[in-house]
Amino acid sequence: MKKVEAVFRPDRLEAVSAALEAAGYGGFTIMDVRGHGQSPEKVGEWRGQTYELHVTHKLQIEIIVEDDEVESVVRAIMGGAHTGAVGDGLISVTELAAVYSIRTGGTTVPTTVAQPGT
Ligand SMILES: Nc1ncnc2c1ncn2[C@@H]1O[C@H](COP(=O)(O)OP(=O)(O)OP(=O)(O)O)[C@@H](O)[C@H]1O
Ligand SMILES: [Mg+2]
Repeated sequence: MKKVEAVFRPDRLEAVSAALEAAGYGGFTIMDVRGHGQSPEKVGEWRGQTYELHVTHKLQIEIIVEDDEVESVVRAIMGGAHTGAVGDGLISVTELAAVYSIRTGGTTVPTTVAQPGT
């Protein structure tokens, strides 16, 4: 299984969540984070002096998926989070050694939305 993590703009949360739901994914974790990219993003002003904000507020989403679901989940996040302006964020994928469901104790964790009657 793989963990897909993405840092994106907070105002894209609804779009990211809708894109994931439309693609059939059922679980994710969201964290508030702050980060710094390669381009200055925001300029603040204090007593007539402008300055760059060193870090800006972002969200980080974490989704565990099957190996063959990575491409589709990455596309869904990108579709929801993309604005085209600098600071849109980035997506990374890591290999997981193991995943456990706390409820069942099993190592098989469903990643897509349960269908009625299953
Ligand atoms: N190398 C990195 N490692 C970890 N997080 C990063 C990295 N680069 C960017 N980020 C995260 O992504 C956020 C947005 O940065 P992003 O890279 O999207 O913007 P940018 O560098 O200003 O412009 P560009 O869109 O051209 O990359 C950062 O605030 C940070 O949280
Ligand atoms: Mg960058």
